[in-house]
Amino acid sequence: MAEDLVLVEGDKSTKYEGLIPQIKALIGDEKDMVANQANVAAALKEAFGFLWVGFYNVKEGELVLGPFQGPVACTRIQIGRGVCGTAWEQKETVIVEDVEQFPGHIACSSLSKSEIVVPLVKECQVVGVLDVDSDETGSFDGVDSIYLNQICEWLVSIM
Ligand code: SME
Repeated sequence: MAEDLVLVEGDKSTKYEGLIPQIKALIGDEKDMVANQANVAAALKEAFGFLWVGFYNVKEGELVLGPFQGPVACTRIQIGRGVCGTAWEQKETVIVEDVEQFPGHIACSSLSKSEIVVPLVKECQVVGVLDVDSDETGSFDGVDSIYLNQICEWLVSIM
């Protein structure tokens, strides 16, 4: 049974350190990736109040919208397009401090001001991405990258 998240006060690292064990406990040995991505998106949204948190999964050569929390979003993204398609192509986390300065940024919500995208890499292949959007510029840095990568690596390890 799912229990309420306990939201830890403190700086960003402290919040992630408090949240990640709860995410792992919540998911347990569940293998269903839709269920697991849905709970990860909900937990991150609840803990940090991000504008949008969600997954795109690679299907037939495109990123296709998966479980998310936040405003409605575009359904398909091609490799190399936008922040998500760039993270996919480069197999690397992309942090965008100001989306207006990122050429080709795909604006799903006019409220989005900064963004981080972390690829889900399984056996050297990108199988999806975790995308997090903020309604403020400069919300994401290396701390988010470290902890969101931890979450994504763990998710892939139980896929
Ligand atoms: N901004 C993303 C598109 C996805 S939405 O933000 C949910 C991008 O440029 O790839």
